[in-house]
Amino acid sequence: MDHFLYRDGALYAEDVPLTEIAAAVGTPFYVYSTATLLRHFHLFDQALEGLDHLVCYAVKAASNQAILRTLAEAGAGMDVVSQGEYRRAKAAGVPGERIVFSGVGKTAEDIRVALSGGIRQFNVESEPELEVISAVAQELGVIAPITVRVNPDVDAKTHAKIATGKSENKFGIPIARAREVYARAAKLPGIDVIGIDVHIGSQLTQLEPFEMAYHKVAELTELLRADGHNIRRLDLGGGLGIPYARSNEAPPLPSDYGALVRRTLGHLGCEIEIEPGRLVVGNAGLLVSEVIYVKHGEGRDFLIVDAAMNDLIRPAMYEAHHDIVPVIEPAPAVELAPIDVVGPICETGDTFARQRPMPPLAAGDLIAFRSAGAYGAVMSSEYNSRLLIPEVMVKGDQFAVIRRRPTFDEMINRDTIPEWL
Ligand code: LLP
Repeated sequence: MDHFLYRDGALYAEDVPLTEIAAAVGTPFYVYSTATLLRHFHLFDQALEGLDHLVCYAVKAASNQAILRTLAEAGAGMDVVSQGEYRRAKAAGVPGERIVFSGVGKTAEDIRVALSGGIRQFNVESEPELEVISAVAQELGVIAPITVRVNPDVDAKTHAKIATGKSENKFGIPIARAREVYARAAKLPGIDVIGIDVHIGSQLTQLEPFEMAYHKVAELTELLRADGHNIRRLDLGGGLGIPYARSNEAPPLPSDYGALVRRTLGHLGCEIEIEPGRLVVGNAGLLVSEVIYVKHGEGRDFLIVDAAMNDLIRPAMYEAHHDIVPVIEPAPAVELAPIDVVGPICETGDTFARQRPMPPLAAGDLIAFRSAGAYGAVMSSEYNSRLLIPEVMVKGDQFAVIRRRPTFDEMINRDTIPEWL
């Protein structure tokens, strides 16, 4: 459920008509609904009620500080995967003790920044990383809390580019070697081993892969405790999927996921952490774009819009489906006709939808891509020297620009031409 609904024939974000935002900021733009964002965060928080838990929002899904601040004020922690995300979370006012640092390639400098600024834990992905954390912690005279990310070799049954829990993926330490690695970690100075971390992939639409992974984590917890480790926190990653097409069967709900966590891990008495990104922000964001031309091709028509693959790369990169709706509500009896929805970029991959049934649209009409809040703005680029687009946040009847559109000069003047030219 989201707060983007038609009212009096036009699409609104909460109590603000999208036409009003478009008039104020121009197109294309991203718009987020605070109520939708908070609703989805609370669904997770409530799903784990009764368990000692922290929902650490995966900052990579949408990292604008206004989003981070909104979630942090509601009680969220953050999962970051780079120094930039760590700094963003801090700048948004999130205390270090609520920030978890994941990722396979943390540098000594990343680790230094996090240990100096405060960190809840590092989710360690390799043995060399463990050694570096130990060295940096000693250099700073502090103790680094860590979990080891284990790779449970489970098929997440999702798109291959976003599956992370199979043994051939670069993530984590093979679960079969976990005891050996924990033994090494326990001996290292500057390290406090507090728990286990697992994340098997993203946009999961079934609970079974989670169930398999969490059973393995439960078994490992018992084994490691028997080995003398004080395992007291389990980080279960993110990954629960969202319904991208209204017509599709809906994935399991956070409450189903919470029940699974309780069933598989509740008896261990550990603090539970989860790292959802997509489900928190995905349906809380739209990409709004204007039709530039309707082009009649041979055998098919093209809707050429002012957003492109550099603004929303998911269709080009993962063959992802995003529902596309007109901002002005079509009459109920209007006939839909198939059309290709494309951007202005000079490659065929710049296609948002092929032969999508759409109502008749004309140049100047506004359309909205649904479920664009997660992995939308954060994956955008300036390809074809297109400006990054603004982000807008709505709360009730108010809206604010939370990242403005840069000027062409700002983009162009970042280049420097060497003296010899
Ligand atoms: N934790 C870790 C360690 C992760 O790697 C990820 C996502 C998450 C949490 C959050 O997963 P979520 O709840 O959002 O599924 N760009 C792709 C998705 C990449 C996901 C990467 N890792 C897409 O647009 O579908």
